[in-house]
Amino acid sequence: MAVTIKSKREIELMRESCRILAEVHAQLGEAIKPGISTWDINALGDKLIRSYGCVPNFLNYNGYPASICVSVNDEVVHGIPSRERVLKEGDIVSLDAGLIYKGYHSDAARTHPVGRISSKAERLIAVTRQSFFEGMKYALAGNHLYDISNAIDAFCTRYGYGVVRDLVGHGIGTHLHEEPQIPNFRQWRKGIRLRPGMTLAIEPMINMGGYRVRWLEDEWTVVTQDGSLSAHYENTVLITEGKPEILTLLPEDSGT
Ligand code: MF3
Ligand code: CO
Repeated sequence: MAVTIKSKREIELMRESCRILAEVHAQLGEAIKPGISTWDINALGDKLIRSYGCVPNFLNYNGYPASICVSVNDEVVHGIPSRERVLKEGDIVSLDAGLIYKGYHSDAARTHPVGRISSKAERLIAVTRQSFFEGMKYALAGNHLYDISNAIDAFCTRYGYGVVRDLVGHGIGTHLHEEPQIPNFRQWRKGIRLRPGMTLAIEPMINMGGYRVRWLEDEWTVVTQDGSLSAHYENTVLITEGKPEILTLLPEDSGT
């Protein structure tokens, strides 16, 4: 399937799907406190998504067994919620969530501190988030896709962080994963030309140590190979004639 350009009507549906997801994330963020289990976070997220009449798109996706991916500390992405995994002060937790509204998918991730965290961990979260916005400076019609990748990589590399290579962002629309794939690390090619009406999920996954990752026995949870902390930040974005529209941010939302 080729890269799709969304019609005006499709863009309206994407906007609504993403706005609802932004609301869900805001409410999930408020629930993050020491003592909550990753299971409870998933249950809350699932309930919130359904309360808007939407369907969680991660549930049963290639057999993934939950609605929200909850990844703690050295877990990069796709952590599986568990009653035994209880958050404690000083942890960082990445929440990746998505939903379907009238056939249109949205996808976004945030990394939250649990109580008070180290200043090093705070910086990792802030730099990961900022790297997305560095990429956004290049998310302009007429530019090339990998201008975004290169901007994210350059920013994170400056801090000595590892930019995950084994997982990438993606186009999104009537499917969770559409073309193109969107790497977050330096590319030597240019990639496709960006055009108004493309909707893209851009999602830097950034490690405090090296870029290498491995998969746990559960075949889902991705962890850093060196055990270092990892952060994730993702929004669904619309390419326009002007600046990109970040669909999964609320107007008053700083996206944290
Ligand atoms: N944001 C992730 C992605 O874009 C979420 C998918 S994980 C799965 O790939 F649970 F749905 F598989
Ligand atoms: Co995604």
